[in-house]
Amino acid sequence: MSVLSFKASIKQGIPNKLPKKPNYNKQVSHAPKRKDILNKKEKKLAINNALRYFPKKFHKKLAIEFSEELKNYGRIYMHRFRPTYKMYARHINNYPYKCKQAAGIMMMITNNLDPKVAQHPHELITYGGNGAVFQNWAQYLLTMQYLSKMTEKQTLVMYSGHPLGLFPSSKNAPRVVVTNGMMIPNYSSQDDWEKYNAIGVTQYGQMTAGSYMYIGPQGIVHGTTITLLNAGRILNKQATSLKGMLFVSSGLGGMSGAQAKAAVIAGAIGVIAEVNHTAAIKRHKQGWVDELYYDLDKLTSRIELAKKNQEAVSIAYVGNIVDLWEKLAKSDIHVDLGSDQTSLHNPWAGGYYPVGLSFEQANKLIAKKPNEFKKHVKKSLQRHVKAINKLSKKGMYFWDYGNAFLLESSRAGAKVLNKNGGFIYPSYVEDIMGPICFDYGFGPFRWVCTSNDPKDLEITDKIAEKVLAKMYKSAAKDIKQQLADNLNWIKSANENKMVVGSQARILYADSEGRIKIAEAFNNAIRKGKVSAPIILGRDHHDVSGTDSPFRETANIYDGSMFTADMAIQNIIGDSFRGATWVSIHNGGGVGWGEVINGGFGLMLDGSKDCHKNLTSMLHWDVNNGIARRSWARNVGAIYSAKKAMKNNSSLKITLPNQVDNEILDNLY
Ligand SMILES: NC(=O)c1ccc[n+]([C@@H]2O[C@H](COP(=O)([O-])OP(=O)(O)OC[C@H]3O[C@@H](n4cnc5c(N)ncnc54)[C@H](O)[C@@H]3O)[C@@H](O)[C@H]2O)c1
Repeated sequence: MSVLSFKASIKQGIPNKLPKKPNYNKQVSHAPKRKDILNKKEKKLAINNALRYFPKKFHKKLAIEFSEELKNYGRIYMHRFRPTYKMYARHINNYPYKCKQAAGIMMMITNNLDPKVAQHPHELITYGGNGAVFQNWAQYLLTMQYLSKMTEKQTLVMYSGHPLGLFPSSKNAPRVVVTNGMMIPNYSSQDDWEKYNAIGVTQYGQMTAGSYMYIGPQGIVHGTTITLLNAGRILNKQATSLKGMLFVSSGLGGMSGAQAKAAVIAGAIGVIAEVNHTAAIKRHKQGWVDELYYDLDKLTSRIELAKKNQEAVSIAYVGNIVDLWEKLAKSDIHVDLGSDQTSLHNPWAGGYYPVGLSFEQANKLIAKKPNEFKKHVKKSLQRHVKAINKLSKKGMYFWDYGNAFLLESSRAGAKVLNKNGGFIYPSYVEDIMGPICFDYGFGPFRWVCTSNDPKDLEITDKIAEKVLAKMYKSAAKDIKQQLADNLNWIKSANENKMVVGSQARILYADSEGRIKIAEAFNNAIRKGKVSAPIILGRDHHDVSGTDSPFRETANIYDGSMFTADMAIQNIIGDSFRGATWVSIHNGGGVGWGEVINGGFGLMLDGSKDCHKNLTSMLHWDVNNGIARRSWARNVGAIYSAKKAMKNNSSLKITLPNQVDNEILDNLY
């Protein structure tokens, strides 16, 4: 399709003539059929809600079609309206726009829906099984049309995928404000999501799906590499790589797909089980996993060989993780590191496939007999944990990967609780991400080159490397190791070939690093060294972005881990400090009702305004979380808060006074 016709389609929005209904494409990975949760009255409401997007003349025909979609898929996706043009991140100038920031946002949206990037592209799901960009294709069409018309003095308001409209604002206001899944707290259970999503009034935006900031599995490879390296250092303090170590986990999906790649980058033997054949093949084709095995005996022989040769290799077991764990528990193979990345934040609707059922059988049961399916999941989790417990007794270091594995296992009655009711295994945030990274302000900073030109990405990699190398020379002992790991990462980022979709890069950095890198990018754009604007952002899974008691804020021990002030304050603060768009979500990672998280996008165009915005916004975006973590008495965060105040005299953070333990011990 020519650029002109692409622009015309975007500008058209919802077409005046009904487009042809596409066939159901079996080559594409589809979302599982959702639970049939609505009664007759609610189904009518869902169809009525869906028809609001269309003129009267279409209603009769579409009413029947949408009721069929509801019956067949449990949701109304409006498949007929899925555009026929190729969905991918184009050069920013190839989108129709009146304001360049809006074009940047369109680019990010089309990247999130690119079939190479998205998990279930036709159902508008980017990752995590249910992480939606929009609820249906009408919302996509309308949103893109609004963005193509938007001026620098308007803000587009997004309610869970629904574009409420363009509202007058000002140049420095965010161009888009996104909320996803915001519920009255008492209506935030898993079934509430099923019901209100089916009615068409809310959606689960995960973290970077509904906020247009997903950059493919690369986004998580860096964090996973850091986690693996530091997990290895728990077993062997001196380890600079994981040479000879065996890491076992599950999932080759959206984020979990990063595990195989990260294991190789860290020098380990990574063995990852994936029950969905299509997902395993996709990662193999992309070069993210080296070898595929379907037979457990052949697999264990391969592992033994890899151990003997101390290979850095990634191997997929195409099958159920429970079968793999049980096989390893019976064998003499020593597993050093273990985790799990099934989508247990979504246990009853296809996030976790129970052992003993084929992938297809499980999908049928989810739709037809959800209660029976639940029983299978619970039994499977009990067996899952039993095998892990056996290997842990032999010395394996196991951690929860923020996917609600321990939470759901405990709810299923598996043996994961200690005498005090706590979990017997740490979450990766408690042991690694929290105290080593977040408390010092290090988090998953990222950027996207809107030219979509690999040359621009290469130039930005070099700029970031130069900035970090300079910082490393004068860095304090507390953060030197982190800077060294991040410097190694960016040096080899290009050769590790991690780009899927837009030309993007992830690089863990602290407040100072993020600001210095962003300043250098803005200068490079101004001088024409980089050919087009750059979009900055981050995963919500960051220092200040997320309040999640079993994950990002799991190492907050002052009782405030169940509050969500930090995440809410964060996007409010970002929005008046110059963010191009902001988003706040209920659910993401660990599940609906379990977490509040937010993020931003900031487009750099080389201007002075951008310089002002990036300095002020990025500083707040990290130091909000440092201040909160330091108030919770986290040692690293107190250190970072003091350092930040020393560097900026207008920053005044309330620091905690330490209380002597004896005073408290003598009280009760
Ligand atoms: N990677 C990270 O750094 C990170 C951080 C925080 C949380 N998480 C969590 O990890 C989970 C996975 O994320 P994702 O985006 O990859 O989700 P996803 O749904 O795309 O992938 C999960 C994969 O697990 C597979 N699977 C499910 N049950 C299985 C089983 N019993 N045996 C083998 N494979 C099975 C699925 O087929 C799927 O491909 C989510 O809950 C996410 O929130 C990941």
